[in-house]
Amino acid sequence: MSQANIVIFNDTHGWHSEQLVDALSKLNITAQLTDLADCTIDLDHPTGLIIPGFEQQLPDAAMVRGIAPGTLEQITLRMDVLHTLAELNVPVFNSASAIEHTVDKARTSLRLHLAGIPTPKTWACENINLARNIAQRQFSQQKELVVKPLFGCQGKGIEKINSLDQLDQLNVVGDAFYMQEYIIPFEPEHWQDWRLMVIDGHVCAAMSRRSQHWITNFAQGAECFSTPVTDEMEQLAIAATDAVQADYAGVDLIRTQDGSYTVLEVNSVPAWKGLYQATGINTADYLAKALATRIASSKRRQCHVK
Ligand SMILES: Nc1ncnc2c1ncn2[C@@H]1O[C@H](COP(=O)(O)OP(=O)(O)O)[C@@H](O)[C@H]1O
Ligand SMILES: [Mg+2]
Repeated sequence: MSQANIVIFNDTHGWHSEQLVDALSKLNITAQLTDLADCTIDLDHPTGLIIPGFEQQLPDAAMVRGIAPGTLEQITLRMDVLHTLAELNVPVFNSASAIEHTVDKARTSLRLHLAGIPTPKTWACENINLARNIAQRQFSQQKELVVKPLFGCQGKGIEKINSLDQLDQLNVVGDAFYMQEYIIPFEPEHWQDWRLMVIDGHVCAAMSRRSQHWITNFAQGAECFSTPVTDEMEQLAIAATDAVQADYAGVDLIRTQDGSYTVLEVNSVPAWKGLYQATGINTADYLAKALATRIASSKRRQCHVK
């Protein structure tokens, strides 16, 4: 392929960007590192977008590795850039839609549910009385609930509750109640979940995370192990990635008491350092190949149109 030049967006570039730059360079693709917050929408410009490093020509593809927290207005402007790049036929990994489908846990739950993919029973609402009624029904059946911040990550701010008093005492982020049935682990007191990295419809690496505590995020001290995956796990992870329309995703599975797996989370901007350390497989190589393939097919399409 002739030289291609892509943009990698993040607010702070580190190990993941470096890995990508290395993997891309082996495929004759250069990458400019910038931040979505440094882009300008400018209708004096033919494309309407000014991306640092791409003032004269659009990037051949865009990779989103991070979006800094911001006001609703700032995030809206950043998503405008990603949506517009896609409308200009620039491959965007992952697209604005995929990011929107996964950054908000309620949206992910809905997409999984509507695609018929197993995921824990979930309720979300903003009215405390509705939330209390839902919770009371679960507690009266001896079920525990997990309450999570709608935009949470790395296991932060997650609580397990079994009484209305506990619910009333929670400081629920943004007054949005996102509540999920607690999945009792397949092996009692053996808390673990599985992270599968899906790229372009294939699982490229997988690990299990085990912990002394029911929250099994790496950031919360869980240990990561390389793990084989069954067909069931693989198919679930691929279907979950499709359900949120992501080109690649880190999919978290958990095993229920009956032995089947259910999808806990789909991450459209997944980290892969822990996965690399556990498996020796570098997701960056797979991502670079997937991007190269996408760039080649989008260039072919453009030639066709001309
Ligand atoms: N419904 C649940 N049942 C049992 N454990 C859960 C449930 N939801 C979350 N957990 C535990 O908490 C961790 C973090 O939850 P997750 O929904 O993935 O949020 P985050 O975005 O913070 O990673 C999971 O990896 C799992 O160990
Ligand atoms: Mg998670």
